[in-house]
Amino acid sequence: MPSDVTPKIGPTPDSEKQDLKDRINKAVRTQKRPTVTVLSSLLSIEDDLGYIPEEAISIVAEYNDSTINEVWGVASFYPNFRFDPPSKNTVEVCWGPSCHLVGATEVIKSVLDELDLDGEGDTTDKIVTFKFNTCLGACPQAPVMSINHRMYGKVSAKQAQSHVSSLRESAKGVS
Ligand code: FES
Repeated sequence: MPSDVTPKIGPTPDSEKQDLKDRINKAVRTQKRPTVTVLSSLLSIEDDLGYIPEEAISIVAEYNDSTINEVWGVASFYPNFRFDPPSKNTVEVCWGPSCHLVGATEVIKSVLDELDLDGEGDTTDKIVTFKFNTCLGACPQAPVMSINHRMYGKVSAKQAQSHVSSLRESAKGVS
């Protein structure tokens, strides 16, 4: 009887890779835009996954009848694309004109202080990715922030800090 056979629990690295490729393919093939381009394909992947995995480059190239170099050229031209997975939570604070006028600067400062960051980026524990947004589309509710795409309007610096701090608390509680 073989003694080195251990049952496999959970996804294997191969099946995770295949799942990732499936999601990339789906994001590329189900774009609801009138004109599909390399850029629209990359945006669709970024919307779905939160980043552009390496595997996406060849898929986008093939789908758009383009070359790998051309796709890398487009992907690297836009600073908003990221190439590694984001943290567990994404926090965005609007610094557009309406929000700026009613206290976005204080909200941003309190969130950055809480996250121990100087600007956009990931916390060292990968619990939060912080981003600026130029308009979250809810100007009458300014100042506005969003956490994992859920909007919080008329937010004070103190409330913003408390929202962010609770993300870290719950992440620590789970792990
Ligand atoms: S400017 Fe902040 S939501 Fe529009």
